[in-house]
Amino acid sequence: MRLPPFGGSFAKITYMDKASRIMALENEIIEQKICSNLAAGATQLVMGDGNLDSQIVFIGEAPGKNEDLQGKPFVGASGKFLDEMLTSVGLNRSDIYITNIVKYRPPNNRDPLSDEKRSFWPYLMRQLEIINPTVIVTLGRHAMDCFIPGAKISVDHGRPHKVQLHRDGAEYNWLVMPLYHPAAALYNGSMRQTLMDDFQKVKDLIN
Ligand code: URA
Repeated sequence: MRLPPFGGSFAKITYMDKASRIMALENEIIEQKICSNLAAGATQLVMGDGNLDSQIVFIGEAPGKNEDLQGKPFVGASGKFLDEMLTSVGLNRSDIYITNIVKYRPPNNRDPLSDEKRSFWPYLMRQLEIINPTVIVTLGRHAMDCFIPGAKISVDHGRPHKVQLHRDGAEYNWLVMPLYHPAAALYNGSMRQTLMDDFQKVKDLIN
């Protein structure tokens, strides 16, 4: 079933509507056999987790081993670090929604390929239409590239970008905040501090 786009201030759907639409989208990804090669090697599809009414959505790259096993994004080491940073600015998982561009674990945790990102992009767009956030936080360069092509993470991290995208006649305006990926910053002291500083900017943005 093809769902109509949502977005803008006219969107007025209940939480349960959103949950069933996300579930329908998940089933569609499976039925359409999107990235069937990745699906074949994965335990399950990892759609996303968190508050479907949140005004802020975090987007990572792709599930890792723990995420693949548990069916939820960011539940491994980088997820724990992410939780720490959320706590440091007074947020927790139930305040945000979190997902990845690519919804199946790539083999041996390799980077997602361009083709894989392209295949999942329309589904990510529809996922965002359903949640209807105002702020998107990209984690790492893969997610950033999808929203702000040509940006450079070392230069653009922590700087909100106004992004306008069109799909099926609807217009979407998001503030996209690119951040370093928590996995990259986990064991790198200066990047860790930079990421924590950028988190404060995310908090300021939603305030
Ligand atoms: N890294 C990601 O980009 N996403 C996850 O869900 C876990 C680790």
